[in-house]
Amino acid sequence: MTAPRLAPQLTGLRCFACGQSHDPRTLQSLCTHCGLPLRVDYDLSAVQLWLTDLADRPPTLWRYREVLPLHDTDAVSLAEGFTPLLPVGDGVWVKDEARNPTGSFKARGMAVAVSMAKQLGARGLSAPSAGNAAGALAAYGARAGMPVTVAMPQDTPTAFFDECELYGATIHRVAGTIADAGKFLREHGPKDAFDISTLREPYRIEGKKTMGYELVEQFAGEVPDVVLYPTGGGTGLVGMWKAFKEMAQLGWIAPGICPRFVSVQAAGCAPVAKAFHAGQERTVPWPDPHTAAYGLRVPSPLGGFLCVQALRESHGTAITIDEDDMQRATRDLAVRSGIDVCPEGGAAWAAWERLRENGFIRDGERVVVFNTGTGLKYRE
Ligand SMILES: Cc1ncc(COP(=O)(O)O)c(C=O)c1O
Repeated sequence: MTAPRLAPQLTGLRCFACGQSHDPRTLQSLCTHCGLPLRVDYDLSAVQLWLTDLADRPPTLWRYREVLPLHDTDAVSLAEGFTPLLPVGDGVWVKDEARNPTGSFKARGMAVAVSMAKQLGARGLSAPSAGNAAGALAAYGARAGMPVTVAMPQDTPTAFFDECELYGATIHRVAGTIADAGKFLREHGPKDAFDISTLREPYRIEGKKTMGYELVEQFAGEVPDVVLYPTGGGTGLVGMWKAFKEMAQLGWIAPGICPRFVSVQAAGCAPVAKAFHAGQERTVPWPDPHTAAYGLRVPSPLGGFLCVQALRESHGTAITIDEDDMQRATRDLAVRSGIDVCPEGGAAWAAWERLRENGFIRDGERVVVFNTGTGLKYRE
C-alpha cells in the first residue's frame, strides 16, 4: 500500500481519557490501553487561518481544511456542511442540519471518517445506527466505492432501511436498540469491514466539529451564548466543544470562551442528563430505553463521560423532554419557521421553551437550537 496522504498539521491521536498516543498512519479504533475514544490532535501554532480567508471557499465543511485530518482533494465528499443558520425570532437561530446530503448532520462525520478510512486502506465499512448514520454511511460508502454493512433496530422507520438499500448497503434488522445492533455486528458482521461506529474511530468527531466552526463564522466571529443540542451518542456535542478549544488556539475567539452547551435528551432515554444531574463523571446504561426520537435512543454512549465534561466545563446543563412535549414542539417549530423539523430538533425546541421559563436562558441571550435532521424519514 502507498503511504496515506494526511494533513501536515495532524500531529497524532491521543486517548481522550488516559492520554496514550496512537499512530494516525494506520486504521485505529479505541485506545489499546484503556478502551476509550481517541482524539485527533493538530499543531495549530503552524496554522495561519483567519475568518476573512474563508469568504471565497466552497460552501462545504472542507472550507476548514486546515483543521481537518486530510486535504479536501482527497475527500470523499457529497458537498456536506455549511448549513443555514436561520433566525426564528426571540433571539433564537435554528442551525438546519436537515440540509446536508442524506438529510442529517451525520453526513459531516461520515464524510471525514470514510475519507480517512479509504486513505488508510480500509476494504469495507460497517456501523450500527439509529437510522441517520446508516443512511449517511451507505451514501458515503457508495461515493467511495466501498462495501457497507449496517445494522439498525428493527423498529427503525422504513425510510432509513429504504435509503440504505438504495445505496447498495448490506442491511441487518436487529431486535433491541443501537447497542444490540452494535453487538450483532461485532459478533456476526463481516470480519474485513472497518467498524466506523460513533466514537469507535476518531474521525467522525472531526467532521461534526465543523458545526462549531460554522457557528462562529456565521455569527461573524462572535460566539452564541447557549447551544441546545439533541444528544444521543454525543459526537455532535463533543465535536463542537473541541472546535471551540481549537478556535481559541487559532486566535478566532478569546481563550476559554464557549457557548453554554445543553444536552437535550428524551425522558425515555437520558443517561447523560442523569449522570450530569447526579454529579457523576460517567454515564450508566439506561434500562428499557424508548423514544420516537430514534437518534436519542442510545442507552450507553461510549463518550458519555466526554458529554458530561463538556456540559460542566461550558457551564451548561442537561434536560429531558417527554414524548408528548417533543411531538408538540416539533410541530410548533415547523409551523413557526417553515423548517423541516425532526423529533430530535423538536426536543431541542421544547428545551428552549423550558430553559427560558426557568431562567437558564436570560433575556437578550443568543441561542442556537440544532435541528439535526429531516423530519421526512420519520413520517409513517
Ligand atoms: C436526528 C439525530 N439527532 C441527534 C442524534 C444524536 O447525535 P449524537 O450521536 O451526535 O449525539 C442522532 C443520532 O442518531 C440523530 O439521528
